[in-house]
Amino acid sequence: MAITIRIFKNADDAGIYVASIAEMVIRQQQHPVLGLATGSTPIPFYKALVNLYDCGLDLSHVTTVNLDEYVGLSGDHPQSYRYFMQEQLFSKTNLHQQNTHVPNGVAEDLDQECHRYDQILQKHTIDFQILGIGLNGHIGFNEPSDTLLAKTHVVHLKEATVKSNARFFESIDQVPNQAITMGVQAILQAKKIVLMAFGEEKASIIEQVILGDVSTNIPASILQLHQDIHFVLDIASASKLLANEKAKKTLGLKVR
Ligand code: GLP
Repeated sequence: MAITIRIFKNADDAGIYVASIAEMVIRQQQHPVLGLATGSTPIPFYKALVNLYDCGLDLSHVTTVNLDEYVGLSGDHPQSYRYFMQEQLFSKTNLHQQNTHVPNGVAEDLDQECHRYDQILQKHTIDFQILGIGLNGHIGFNEPSDTLLAKTHVVHLKEATVKSNARFFESIDQVPNQAITMGVQAILQAKKIVLMAFGEEKASIIEQVILGDVSTNIPASILQLHQDIHFVLDIASASKLLANEKAKKTLGLKVR
C-alpha cells in the first residue's frame, strides 16, 4: 500500500467513489470510526453517503470525529462546523447524536476542551479519515508553520485562511480567527485516509503535496508518509500533475 491517486471527471462521481469506500469500512468493522471534514469539498461525499443510507446502509453503529471547529461559534450557529455536519449528514441518517463528536468552540476552558477531545480520539482510533485541503496546504486547521502539533490544539488562523473561508460568512469580520483542530497525530493514526480536492484553484497545492518534499510548511505533504493514502481529484485539481509527463509516468496517472 502506498499513494493511490484517482482522477474523476467531476466531484459528484468522486463523492460516490469515496462513499463506497466508506461503506466498505462501515460494513467491515464492528465499531467503525469515521474522521470527518467540513468545507465545500466533502459535500458530494456526504450526499452520496446519505444516498447509501437511503438505500439501506446502516450507520447506527458508527462513531464520527470531526477535524475542527471555530472558536466562538456554538453548534447552532449556521457557520459552525457542528451545524454543517448536522445539515449535511447527521440529521439525514441514523447516526446516533451521542456518537458524533465535534470540538466545542464555545467551551469555557479551551485547553480543557482540547484535552477532552484527545481523550475521545484515544478511545476511537479513526478507521477512515476524510480530508479536504486549504489553498495553503492546511489539513483540518493545521496551518503551515515551522512545526506541526501532534495533539488537539487552539490555532490562530492564517490571514489567507480567514480570507478564503470568508466566502461562507456575510463579511470577513465575522470569520473567527481562532479554531480548535485535531493535531496531526490522530490524522496520521487513521488506518485509511482520503484527501479530496476539486477545482483549478487546488491544482498548484496538489502538485506540491504529491510531488514536493515533506514539509511542515505544507502540512498535507506529511500524508506522503502514510501507508494507505488516497488522493481523490477531479481533472481540474489534477491538471498540474497531468501536465507533468514525468509525474504522469512515475505515478501511473491515466485519464481516459
Ligand atoms: C477549512 C477546513 C478544512 C478544509 C478547507 C478547504 O479551512 N478547516 O478542513 O479542507 O476549509 O475548504 P474547501 O473544501 O471549501 O475548499
